[in-house]
Amino acid sequence: MSHTDLDQKAKTILTDNDQGGYTIPTKGLYPYQWNWDSVFVALGFAEFDQDRAWREIEMLFEGQWRDGMVPHILFRKDDPSYFPGPGVWGTDGGPIPSSGHSQPPVAASVILDLVENDRTGKALERASALLPGLMAWHRWYLNYRDPKGLGVIAVIHPWESGRDNLPDWDDALRAVEVKDIAPYERKDTSHVDPAMRPHKEDYDRYLSIVAACRKAGWDPAKVAETCPFFVADPGVTFIFLRANRDLLSLAEKLDRTEEANEIRGWIALMEAGAKTLWNPDLQAHVAIDERSGKMTDGISSASFLALYAGLTDAATLKPLQAHFDRIAARVRYMMPSYDPDHRCYEPLRYWRGPVWAMINFMIAKGFREAGDTVRADRLRRDTASLIEASGFAEYFSPETGAGAGGGSFSWTAAIWLTWASPSHARQAA
Ligand code: GLC
Repeated sequence: MSHTDLDQKAKTILTDNDQGGYTIPTKGLYPYQWNWDSVFVALGFAEFDQDRAWREIEMLFEGQWRDGMVPHILFRKDDPSYFPGPGVWGTDGGPIPSSGHSQPPVAASVILDLVENDRTGKALERASALLPGLMAWHRWYLNYRDPKGLGVIAVIHPWESGRDNLPDWDDALRAVEVKDIAPYERKDTSHVDPAMRPHKEDYDRYLSIVAACRKAGWDPAKVAETCPFFVADPGVTFIFLRANRDLLSLAEKLDRTEEANEIRGWIALMEAGAKTLWNPDLQAHVAIDERSGKMTDGISSASFLALYAGLTDAATLKPLQAHFDRIAARVRYMMPSYDPDHRCYEPLRYWRGPVWAMINFMIAKGFREAGDTVRADRLRRDTASLIEASGFAEYFSPETGAGAGGGSFSWTAAIWLTWASPSHARQAA
């Protein structure tokens, strides 16, 4: 297929997955609105319908909880083809039935992008209406995912990280006692090959964490104190730090001095805190289990997001460039979600090796901003080649380029449109 055919196909995927203002990640496997999927999807819509791009994010914020949290899934209508559905989560925090935790907060960054590339003349007004929600969500992150004020953000569930079965969660997950779960039937393995999905032992523990938080009534302070899983995640930490910088730009554009000052304090805290995730043996940032104090021993694609977070000093950049080149010598397509030299690497199992387009987009942005256009371009070219060879898959093998997981995937289509497509006007951005 030519680039322009792929551009057209990507738009068709977004419009086909559109449910009337919000977009599902893919039919069958993910029939609801997912948090960070939707936000990336907005970037795709923005290429041909900016009004629709804003609507996507506005509809996500319609599900914001009273405590400020923006949930990872909004169950706008019940769909028996998905498990675990609203009944298992048992939440009551907001106006729309939802899961009980969040997902990586990319919204402020994407909203800034929509403002900076606006063609509607309405962007500042729409950003201004979303600002209180963004502020509340970011405060929620600081209060309940960093209750000790360490400047790092923890996730209370592997699903909250958006990188569901990353090897970094293995030890912390193993420490979760399997209890309070009713017999259940998974639905994910009926949509895609079980060899690409998490194992049953993991799934039991995923549901046990949900059960523990349900018992705590999803009260965020209680959850932070008692959840059996509480792991500082470099992915969410870096995305949040970046989102705070972008939120600050938004607040400044909107002349919101009070908010801007508050955000400056968050950035200072997070800049200092993020550095504590540095593993000196590995020369990269990793996760820390806040319950056991243990640091993980593997480099993930999120380690490279340090640059995206603005940590572009030579002491961070140089080791990441070296890791990038080492990994590039091991696989054909960058960036695998886990280090191919690590014992846990699996090229086709969910988050233990495969490549995701939207992670490449963020890593490349970081390299480019750090002045490294060579590695940034490599990521864009690889992302384009993967999509050209295997279509708009959920994720790809870094070794063969084969597409895996769900097909006709919304965020892969969106990232193609906003960045990877060679015909894209902003291809050098
Ligand atoms: C999986 C991914 C998560 C994503 C969701 C929908 O759960 O791990 O990041 O949001 O699928 O695409």
